[in-house]
Formats: sequence, C-alpha cells, structure tokens
Amino acid sequence: MALQFKTPRGTKDIFPPEIYRWHYVEQRLRDLFSRYGFHEIRTPVFEETELFARGIGQSTDIVQKEMYTFVDKGGKSFTLRPEMTAPVMRAYLQHHLGEKRRVQKLYYIAPMFRQERPQAGRLRQFHQYGAEIIGTPDPLADAEIVRVAVRFLEELGVADFRLKLNSVGCPVCRPTYRDNLRRQLKPVLDQLCSDCQKRYDLNPLRILDCKRESCRELTAGVDSIEAFLCEDCAEHFRQVQELLASQSIVFEKDKRLVRGLDYYTRTAFEIVTSHLGAQDAICGGGRYDLLAAEFGENPVPGVGFAAGIERLLAVLEKQALLPEPAERTAVYLIGLGEAARRRIFALAGDLRTRGIAAELDYLGRSLKAQMRDANKLMATWTVILGENELEREVAILKNMLTGEQEEVQLSEIQKILEARLR
Ligand code: HAM
Repeated sequence: MALQFKTPRGTKDIFPPEIYRWHYVEQRLRDLFSRYGFHEIRTPVFEETELFARGIGQSTDIVQKEMYTFVDKGGKSFTLRPEMTAPVMRAYLQHHLGEKRRVQKLYYIAPMFRQERPQAGRLRQFHQYGAEIIGTPDPLADAEIVRVAVRFLEELGVADFRLKLNSVGCPVCRPTYRDNLRRQLKPVLDQLCSDCQKRYDLNPLRILDCKRESCRELTAGVDSIEAFLCEDCAEHFRQVQELLASQSIVFEKDKRLVRGLDYYTRTAFEIVTSHLGAQDAICGGGRYDLLAAEFGENPVPGVGFAAGIERLLAVLEKQALLPEPAERTAVYLIGLGEAARRRIFALAGDLRTRGIAAELDYLGRSLKAQMRDANKLMATWTVILGENELEREVAILKNMLTGEQEEVQLSEIQKILEARLR
C-alpha cells in the first residue's frame, strides 16, 4: 500500500548523495563570503506578518498571494519568511548593529517560503544564499554586491550567464517616470492582460516585466527610466556602471528590469542563464534605502542580493560542474559471531576517536552481505574478524582498491590504519 504521507507540494527531501552537492556549494559559499568580508546572520524562520507586508509592499505578488501566514494561539499573525532582506534589516535595527560597526556586511544561506504554483525551478520551500551591505549609500557597496554575486558563479565555473542592470530611481524621480509610463500606455490599456490592467493603477512599472508576449510587444517602445532619473540617481547609476566596468564585469542595461519587491531604490539587477527555461533568474538584488523608513525608523541605506540554491544546482548539474557526490568510508569493520562483533564495535569507537571514519554492520549479516555493504559505502579498507582470528588476536586487513589482504595483529590495527590513511 502506498504511504499515506508525502512531502507537501512544492517541497523536497534532500538526502545522500544529493546532500553532498549542497555541502559542496555551502562550503564554497562560506569560503567566498569570508574572503569578501561578510559575516553570517541567522534569523527566525517566521516573523510578524506586518514586517513583510510593509517591507516587501502591499501590492506585490508575494504579499498579496504567496505568503504562508498563520495566527498563533496568542492571536498574533506570523508569516514564514518569503525572503531575507526585511528580516536582516529588522535585526540590524533591533540590535543597533550600526553602532558596533557603521557598515554591516551580512550573509545567509537559508530556506524561504512562497506559495507559488510549483514548476521546474519554482518551489514553495526553496533555499537562498544572499548578502546585504547595510549602512552606506556609496555606489561602491552596490558594485561590491554585484561583484560577489558574479564572482561566485565564476569561481564555480558557470560560464554563460547574463547580468542585467537598471536603476529604479527614487521617490523624487520615479513618480514622473510612472506618470509618463501611464501616459504612454493609456492608448493600449485595454489590450494589456488583466494582470497588467490592474498594475496600471497599482504599480505600472511592473507592466514592463510581464512575461506575456502580447504585453511585451505593446510595451516594447516605451521610454526607459534612465532619461527620467534625478541628478543624484543618474550620478549613482553612472558610478555603479563605471565601477563594474573597472572590474571587467560585463552587464547589459535592461529597461524592463523592475524587480517584484517594492523596497528597491536606484540599483536593480538580476543574473539569468539560458539553462533554466522559464524560471531563468538565478539571482536578483538591488538597493533599498527606504526600507527602514517603511518600519517607522530613520532611513538606513542598504544594498544586497539573493540567489536560489536549487536553481544554481540545476545549472551546475547541466554544465557538469559538480564534483563526485559521494563520501567514502575509510574503514568498514566486519565481525563474524557475537564476540567478534563486540570487539569490532569497540574498535570502531577507538578509530573514530582517532579521527578515522569507520562503519560496521548492525544486522549480524553474513560475510558476503557485509562485504556488499562495505562496497556500497565505498570503503577504502575492510577489517575482517572471525572467531578463529579473534582467538589468535589477529584480523584480516583488506585493501578494497587493490583487493590485497594480509593478516595483522589486532593490537596493531589502529596504528597501521592511521599510517596508511594519512
Ligand atoms: P527575489 O528575486 O525574490 O529577491 O529572489 C532571489 C532569487 O531566489 C531568485 O532569483 C531565484 O533564484 C530564487 N527564488 C525566488 N523564488 C523562488 C522559488 N519559488 N523557487 C525557487 N527559487 C526561487 C529576493 O528575495 C530579495 N530579497 C533579494 C535581495 C536581497 N534584494 C536585496 N537584498
């Protein structure tokens, strides 16, 4: 009979050998972030609902349709985090991190939750790695964030990705652009899809990134925001581009890049690849200088990015950039008969204390079955202890790579293995 319980739709179990790919990516990330001067932050998986409603924005798809929100037994509304920027800013403000060091550089590797329609590359529990630089409006920080996102893909060997860059302006210049966009789209309003017709009033910039071909055709000729940027935003945008170019980071300007979260000001960027089909964004980010003000605090400038680990792994897999996923067991210990099994149990403990990965059988199986298990675990050595050997205080040591075997003193085994595994 089929098992009654399964993972919820849009979620996944991760276990060997796949889990070793996650470890690989996570280790590479931790190494990279520490070289770039970022420190890890961990925040709760759930936060007060209002944090996301205000931070991400009431009119966004995430807040309107995708949040996992629940009321706890105390009657308060909480939400499983759909993203990390609002929680990281909350933590920065709550703990006055800016007083410890004016500019905080924080990174995370963590699960996020969005009730989207599951499809390839789109999950309901997915994982992001990301980084935030909080406390400076300097374009150097924008360029640093883009650089760390790009360099990680390069270090992993990912070749054909594209970096898209735009500025979404600020409350000084964006309203003028928004009005202009409405004016330009008004004549074709009834030809836009029903979602875009709603966006026309709520947030017309989002019409630009509608995926429908018909909407894209209708918006192809509209003005880019660039000509509408105020002097400060234009200068910031110019400097970001200059810094990226000085680092040989190739980007393309994209007037359609507006991002699906409302907190962005000025810099917005995405990294896409051709390996992912419809869900082609590995990474997205930008500047959010007014996010803190949404929480009722004084403005604190910030810039960051986040990337989907499942999507990254899919790209690495397609390009054959993942190392062998397996972990070898150094020594498999085989005991035949009750007394030998007990001795093997003790010996395994000693080896592990000395730093050697050792495994044994827990079912009292035959020699053949235990050998099969040793092969499955890709053991480099096996130690075989039968009743006969135990009586003589010896064991058989077998090299699983060459097939050679020899008899050795039980008291010497630890030393011999230590020397050979070194
Ligand atoms: P985002 O664009 O919503 O930005 O998400 C960033 C990345 O997370 C996406 O490019 C994608 O790779 C991955 N992702 C998003 N949703 C899913 C999903 N349902 N399934 C699988 N992967 C997904 C943010 O989250 C911002 N907090 C980024 C940021 C940080 N901006 C400033 N700082």
